[in-house]
Amino acid sequence: MAVRHFLTLLDLSPAELLEVLHRAIELKKMRAEGVVYEPFKGKVLGMIFEKSSTRTRVSFEAGMAQFGGSAIFLSPRDTQLGRGEPVEDSARVISRMVDIVMIRTFAHDIIERFAAHSRVPVINGLTDDHHPCQILADLQTFIEHRGDLKGKTFAWVGDGNNMCNSYIHAAHQLDFQLRIACPYGFEPDPEVLTQYKHCATLVKTAEDAVAGAHLIATDVWTSMGQEAEQSIRKRRFATYQVNPRLMDLASPDAIFMHCLPAHRGEEISEDMLDDPRAVVWDEAENRLHAQKALMEFLMR
Ligand code: CP
Ligand code: NVA
Repeated sequence: MAVRHFLTLLDLSPAELLEVLHRAIELKKMRAEGVVYEPFKGKVLGMIFEKSSTRTRVSFEAGMAQFGGSAIFLSPRDTQLGRGEPVEDSARVISRMVDIVMIRTFAHDIIERFAAHSRVPVINGLTDDHHPCQILADLQTFIEHRGDLKGKTFAWVGDGNNMCNSYIHAAHQLDFQLRIACPYGFEPDPEVLTQYKHCATLVKTAEDAVAGAHLIATDVWTSMGQEAEQSIRKRRFATYQVNPRLMDLASPDAIFMHCLPAHRGEEISEDMLDDPRAVVWDEAENRLHAQKALMEFLMR
């Protein structure tokens, strides 16, 4: 059978995505009950990080250990990738030695090229264009707190970035509506918006996006790799802050998510994470469970 990768949310069918999400909820329960479940004894995860990470690294490494396997952390500083060894050659070599690979990198085509030359499943741990593992955790969190995704309205406020792109894919796959509010010039790719216009709508203001929505999500205004634009972004995004007053315009049962790390006083107010509608700590924890379910799915 062909090797399955997870480079975007489109790599799994809607039924497969739901299977992974429900398995994540089950694995979480098993862990809470102290069940020892080690299907990956002797298996190794290779983790290539070209950008910083707290949640992604810890969740993959801990998840692999809990499954009885192990993980290797690889950074460009101490591998030949950082000295110019081609991605294709690195993929051929690394995938002969490990059982599954996770990559966090810059251009999305780097992970596509790696996957094309890999013998084992490759998971996207974030690229400039997509962050599908985070969305798995977000969807699991929504299901746990509010049930079905189908027919719901989600609001994306802020940058039309990698997280926003993955939310667009999720809306398409799992049948919810996404309203997107970004400052002019920071919207998602217009071609993507046209392709997904059945499930994703660009609106003008943060208020337009959140009106009656069931989930409000945002992210940093300056993503990794965009540090030079930080001060201009701070000015341009000023009216796109999520705070309890903005949340009051959403559905009365709305919840708030942020993939973290968060910048209090920028994309969220100082008090937003203390608001009872914020579920960000559950969301962060679910990275662990969702990725364990994903690895189990890809390696079976
Ligand atoms: N949300 C997320 O991916 O966090 P890290 O950058 O810490 O991995
Ligand atoms: N959009 C952010 C997400 C960080 C988890 C970034 O790419 O830096």
